[in-house]
Amino acid sequence: MILLTGGAGYIGSHTAVVLLRAGYEVLVVDNFCNSSPESLKRIEKITGKKCPYIRGDIRDRALLDNVFQQHTIEAVIHFAGLKAVGESYAKPLDYYHCNVFGTITLLQAMQAFGVKTFVFSSSATVYGNAPIPYTEQTPTGVPSNPYGRTKLHIEQILQDLSNSDDEWKIALLRYFNPVAAIETGEIGEDPLGIPNNLMPFISQVAVGKLPELAVFGNDYPTRDGSCVRDFIHIMDLAEGHCAALDFLQNPAHPNGVHIWNLGTGKGISVLEMIAAFEKVNQVKIPYRIAPKRDGDLAEFYANPNKAKMELNWQAKRSLEDMMRDLWNWQKNNPNGYR
Ligand code: NAD
Ligand code: WQD
Repeated sequence: MILLTGGAGYIGSHTAVVLLRAGYEVLVVDNFCNSSPESLKRIEKITGKKCPYIRGDIRDRALLDNVFQQHTIEAVIHFAGLKAVGESYAKPLDYYHCNVFGTITLLQAMQAFGVKTFVFSSSATVYGNAPIPYTEQTPTGVPSNPYGRTKLHIEQILQDLSNSDDEWKIALLRYFNPVAAIETGEIGEDPLGIPNNLMPFISQVAVGKLPELAVFGNDYPTRDGSCVRDFIHIMDLAEGHCAALDFLQNPAHPNGVHIWNLGTGKGISVLEMIAAFEKVNQVKIPYRIAPKRDGDLAEFYANPNKAKMELNWQAKRSLEDMMRDLWNWQKNNPNGYR
């Protein structure tokens, strides 16, 4: 059985579907601070399989000990964490406590029960302001915000843990910009309040919940002046987790820390994303140009070749798929899971 911390959230719920479809059993631990058990019900409907969960916090060692005692856990995929960049400036202690202390507590429980296969939700933010495209050999930099720095700290902790005990099998999955939803539109991204990220903002403008999009800056040194990112379909990203887990669990593969970029390798600008959403869905997105947002980098995208070579995984879905599937989720669930 695979333990998914934060499995009710955006990336965890899509990964749960992929794992269940691939024949894995899963168990979710989530405190629902940024999600709802409704996503787990829908996973059961989509897959026709059980998606059991325990409401709890990864900082609660007694709860985790109970989980490892009562269930045969072969590996952990660790999604749980706080992820809002803006909020991390205002509440750095909450971010370090949840992300760093939470991960340490989880790893201590795993160590105590001899479970040493671990997949971690890292982020392209750990590259800081490095030359593009980022490869896994690109030295990590200093992320511009406390959220990003928690990810870098956790990566370093995992490397130190692996150095201390060579039985650990660890995947650091560096996500680029996940977007969209499962093709059937039953689960998707459901941010609380005003979305921080571009694509949920666009889809909420499209559905009439927000009046217009602010495009943060149009004089970056990019082809159209707006920022460029590597947007990846959430189902491609979810499949990347299954591929990483299969790799770690294959005894022919070496133990230790493995790093994989999960991106498409293609950069798309903010203005191109707006235009693609409008074209594919025939919906107008009113927008205005606004000042730059602090900490935004002009352009970054992945070199995804290592994941292709080692995991036999690559992003398959197109920009058009992303736009169609995002809109399918949003228009069928205008208030998310509420
Ligand atoms: P999400 O907020 O939708 O999911 C995170 C889940 O973890 C939520 O269900 C939340 O309730 C749960 N959670 C948070 N703190 C917890 C705690 N202390 N104990 C138990 N459960 C807790 O976010 P997501 O987009 O699915 O992201 C999943 C992971 O991937 C996060 O670690 C995030 O930092 C990382 N990540 C996300 C992105 C992105 O753009 N979405 C990019 C890079 C990395
Ligand atoms: C994308 C582009 C904005 C909103 C963040 C984290 C990263 C990772 C993924 C998560 C940027 C522009 C956005 C809006 C806009 N983390 N934008 N108007 O900043 O690339 O990455 O999410 O766990 O660590 O930093 O993603 O979606 O916020 O922004 O113009 O209302 O869209 O300036 O260029 P970002 P994003």
